Amino acid sequence: MTVETYQLFINGEWIKTGETQEVLNKYTQETYAHVAKASEKEVDQAVAAASDAYRNNQLSPYERYQVLKRVSELLQENKEDLAATITHEAGKPLKQARSEIDRATQTFELSAEEAKRIHGEGVPVEAAPGSENRMAFTIKVPVGVVGAISPFNFPINLVAHKIAPAIAAGNAVVLKPASKTPISALKLAGLFEEAGLPKGLINVVVGSGSTVGNQMMQDSRINLYTFTGSAEVGLKLKQNTGLNKLVLELGNNSPVIVDKEADVEAAAENIAAKSFAFAGQVCISVQRIYVHDDVKDAFQDKFIQAIESLKVGDPNDPETDVGPMISEDEAERAGQWIEEAKEAGAEVVYGGEREGALLKPTILANVTGDMKVVCEEIFAPVVTIQTFSDIKACIEDVNTSSYGLQGGIFTQNVDTAFYAARNVEVGGFMINDSSQYRVDLMPYGGVKDSGSGKEGPKYAMEDMTEERLVVMNLKS
Ligand code: SIN
Repeated sequence: MTVETYQLFINGEWIKTGETQEVLNKYTQETYAHVAKASEKEVDQAVAAASDAYRNNQLSPYERYQVLKRVSELLQENKEDLAATITHEAGKPLKQARSEIDRATQTFELSAEEAKRIHGEGVPVEAAPGSENRMAFTIKVPVGVVGAISPFNFPINLVAHKIAPAIAAGNAVVLKPASKTPISALKLAGLFEEAGLPKGLINVVVGSGSTVGNQMMQDSRINLYTFTGSAEVGLKLKQNTGLNKLVLELGNNSPVIVDKEADVEAAAENIAAKSFAFAGQVCISVQRIYVHDDVKDAFQDKFIQAIESLKVGDPNDPETDVGPMISEDEAERAGQWIEEAKEAGAEVVYGGEREGALLKPTILANVTGDMKVVCEEIFAPVVTIQTFSDIKACIEDVNTSSYGLQGGIFTQNVDTAFYAARNVEVGGFMINDSSQYRVDLMPYGGVKDSGSGKEGPKYAMEDMTEERLVVMNLKS
């Protein structure tokens, strides 16, 4: 395979820079591509281009609809190439990469539709004393320049969730994709170019968080930051972006409860499918399983059976369910957490073996709430099982987590289901499904250290627009 070199996308042009970085094929660890690295100069040019395009290259809502709709079609036309790109640069199994392209198509279609629905509302100011001859309404205006920083785990769809609603709402964007997976984002920028987006409305700069990310964070021409990644970096952004708007999609150690009144077989199959997809490197991957004492053995047996049917290995094989982690270092880090848990008394009920970046699906039992594998986000194909006898105590335990993105419960008891939905501290709660349920139209975002603000085009566009009040003082 020829190793291609990709350029940055700034002001509608493909820009070479003085330095390139290597992008690895995450399964073979061979060089997959080279990509231009942005220096201070290119980041500055990208923000200037976005700022200028926002003022001078505005599209009407219908034109935004047309461009976004065209990108959604181009995603399908280029599906196989884009899916293969994700598989190479992220190590994501091909079937999951293909489904990511289908989801991104949805994200663009939804954003295109939402571009036609931006509206304010009437405000009855004449009802205030002394304000009889006035009429008022609000309009929604774009925030301006959106600084987007996206993660490695969904190199197309989590980029889509940032840039498609931003463009739909009339903004310009500077995107810094994850430096381990920048090629998908650059190819997506190419689709915008093909769809006729005016120059400067999307700019893609590649580099590390400590250089490009830091510079973006300090640029006062950026009006809103949207970031997906670790809570640590989210906090840094919060501390350094002043009074600017900030949307944060951070981590989670997703809980799922299997109640004594659950359909245990369905729960086991569902959780097995949802814990290890993309090697558990999904913010809503199941991590903490709480099983009622009465069904623990039955659940664990069925769960192991279901995991045994997962195919682990080469992500290019269309049958593979679990591929490598993003790097050997990350797999080693997860392995260390498993070792620490074992030393503190945890039992490996299944898996635990690692070969390079490939960590086998792993189940840990006899865990306690203070072990990293429970209280921190492992972001690896590892789940923990704890048991409970009282649902209220279980939910208190679930809520000791500092995170709160999504969670779920399996139960046939409606009262238990609704008690859990009301009391588990998360942004989204699933009944008879695991935490890892997401379709792209739904509001998606967490509470506590999982962040603030929502994704999902309709919801993201709330943050990406400002409500402006217009008041008319009439003569009579
Ligand atoms: C994430 O990891 O936060 C994204 C999950 C998804 O879009 O399915």
